[in-house]
Amino acid sequence: ELGQFEHYMLKEIFEQPTSIENAFRGRLDDDEATARFGGLNLDPQELRRIDRIVLTACGTSWHAGLVGEYIIEEFARIPVEVEYASELRYRNPPMSERTMVFAITQSGETADTLAAMRECKRKGHPTLAICNVVGSSIAREADGGIYLHAGPEVGVASTKAFTSQVTVLTLLALFMGRIRHLSYPAGQRMIANLRKMPDKIRQTLECHNRVKEIARKYYTAENFLYLGRLHNFPVALEGALKLKEISYIHAEGYPAAEMKHGPIALVDEETPSVFVVPRCQIYPKVISNMEEVRARRGPIIAIACEGDDKVAELADDVIYVPDVDEYLQPMVTSVPLQLLAYEIALLRGCNVDRPRNLAKSVTVE
Ligand code: M6R
Repeated sequence: ELGQFEHYMLKEIFEQPTSIENAFRGRLDDDEATARFGGLNLDPQELRRIDRIVLTACGTSWHAGLVGEYIIEEFARIPVEVEYASELRYRNPPMSERTMVFAITQSGETADTLAAMRECKRKGHPTLAICNVVGSSIAREADGGIYLHAGPEVGVASTKAFTSQVTVLTLLALFMGRIRHLSYPAGQRMIANLRKMPDKIRQTLECHNRVKEIARKYYTAENFLYLGRLHNFPVALEGALKLKEISYIHAEGYPAAEMKHGPIALVDEETPSVFVVPRCQIYPKVISNMEEVRARRGPIIAIACEGDDKVAELADDVIYVPDVDEYLQPMVTSVPLQLLAYEIALLRGCNVDRPRNLAKSVTVE
């Protein structure tokens, strides 16, 4: 089953060109410049009335939700909140009858996500699932939903499920956008860009050897910071989680500009900062955040767009990724961070597929 790969995690990282394609296969409608889903089970009138979306999840799926929040708000102009399922299940926040809820989950068995979903359903909200495992508890109990079609994910560290969740949330943004404010040409552009993603991920995976070199340089560090802004802020959180769970290195993810409010005190010569800094609207701001870290002699690993010489001047090591539109960057920029965690964990002799203290699905509270 593993084929040429040493571990499931690596195999699943390399499956991403295909798993992303499977997430949008049959769901792109060129004639209407929108996305189509078979199982939402809501008619257009009901969907038109929705004025707020709550995304609930745990762990990596919660990070995917954060990416979804930015994309849905940008393209569909609907307010989105992302709630930890473990909090939402007990929190009872005010939610109007026009609020739609999505539970995001790879396994469909996460106890907190299931409980949060039941609570929202009981209150009468349309409660849908974005789920990978067909026939899982959450998939069965939801009012409807969207499957990822990513294929089985065996590695405890979630990789391909994350990029598939982001793909499905992008389709959702397109779909909800086209019911509202998104023009036909804008919808067409999104579709064309999505179709290019499998190739962009293939190109991104070519960074593997470079990542191996970087891992050899830094694998003994005891602390890492992961920093990004806007769409790449959740990517920073996800990169830090990947490193923590499989290499047991302490890592923290932050929006880069939050550094000056505390975490910059951690920066020293022994603490690498991983900057996720592809070109974006506030690229110069991220560059100045990098300068702040450099001034304090913190080693910098940067994930940047091909040909970015500015970043190369500031960073100790750069991993280049293809240039894509901002809202699609998380799919691309998360890949080198998955590989970095994997390579560092290997060098530290960790059990990459079955890290200590963790289970693939957390079916207890
Ligand atoms: O199956 P789910 O997506 O509901 O799982 C949620 C989390 O337990 C999961 O993403 C966890 O954080 C992963 N081990 C992260 O790699």
